[in-house]
Amino acid sequence: MHILITGAAGFIGQLLAKELLSDPTYHVTLTDINEPPIPAGVRHPENAKAIKADLLSGAKDIVDSTLDAVYAFHGIMSSGSEANFDLGMTVNIDATRNLLEALRHTCPGVRVIYSSSQAVYGQPLPEIVTDSVIPTPESSYGAEKLVCETLVNEYTRRKFINGFTLRFPTISVRPGAPTAAASSFLSGMIREPLDGKSCVIPIEDRGFKSWLCSPKTLVENLLVTLRLPADSLPPHIRQINVPGICVTVQDMMNALEAVGGADKLSLLTEKEDPSLIPILKSWPTQFDNSQAISLGFKRDESFEQTVRDYKQSLTQ
Ligand SMILES: NC(=O)c1ccc[n+]([C@@H]2O[C@H](COP(=O)([O-])OP(=O)(O)OC[C@H]3O[C@@H](n4cnc5c(N)ncnc54)[C@H](O)[C@@H]3O)[C@@H](O)[C@H]2O)c1
Repeated sequence: MHILITGAAGFIGQLLAKELLSDPTYHVTLTDINEPPIPAGVRHPENAKAIKADLLSGAKDIVDSTLDAVYAFHGIMSSGSEANFDLGMTVNIDATRNLLEALRHTCPGVRVIYSSSQAVYGQPLPEIVTDSVIPTPESSYGAEKLVCETLVNEYTRRKFINGFTLRFPTISVRPGAPTAAASSFLSGMIREPLDGKSCVIPIEDRGFKSWLCSPKTLVENLLVTLRLPADSLPPHIRQINVPGICVTVQDMMNALEAVGGADKLSLLTEKEDPSLIPILKSWPTQFDNSQAISLGFKRDESFEQTVRDYKQSLTQ
């Protein structure tokens, strides 16, 4: 299969590329506005091609008729889109529409797996969000994702593409540096202390709940989506809420202590950031994932296991 990954220099693009390039059956084109690296240690680097391009102007030059599937991961994250409205609208909406148009004309019917987010939801929300809850985003990022979800539905209904929209939970533990996401601390509060560094938790409520998924489980679910029969969802409703688990800040501290030792807790500081609180509190904290599970999606065992896997990945 020939697979295109947009936003391939980013966290999830690299994670997926690493998995695909360890299997000889995939040829992967990685594209990003920053030169996308071929992930280190893959078994088949010869099956990768990297293209540095701005999707806003260059979508047509990236897409070719041999594509079997496209993972659309490019984007500006939540605090980034809130801080720069024009940049968020341009990259998150205009570049995505350009990509869909290029695909429609160059490889009609191609499978497109679009990365949306739980941030499409806003208050008021029921305790448990089901697929019938209407998304009412309270951030530019969430609004932009919702616009693209509608595009994916419409392009699929018209048979221009075979689209699937995955609403990701917050992915934690994310390696590397802090990001321009309001949820950045949800990885930082584990990653930084395990590396002997401090991290500020921007909310002073240890009962604050988040809906998380580990990188490992996300990749499994991305691969499940590659094989889903096209008719497993109605042609005009292509969204799937990807399974997550509900954890509080206290649960996360407990997992850090259990895996990293009690001394790591002293590297955490709790200090309310008034600019982030409204965004954080607008997000859902629990979902009914029965649809996704019935389609074959996986769910994490526990957050402690996620932290163990992350710690182990540091030694590989
Ligand atoms: N990581 C999470 O917790 C999470 C949660 C929900 C949804 N998502 C979604 O998943 C996708 C991937 O997330 P990520 O964490 O890998 O993000 P990331 O920020 O690490 O990667 C996004 C990539 O998009 C690229 N990009 C930005 N503008 C571009 C342009 N004009 N043309 C081409 N490329 C451009 C960036 O250079 C970057 O490498 C995003 O769309 C994000 O909204 C992520």
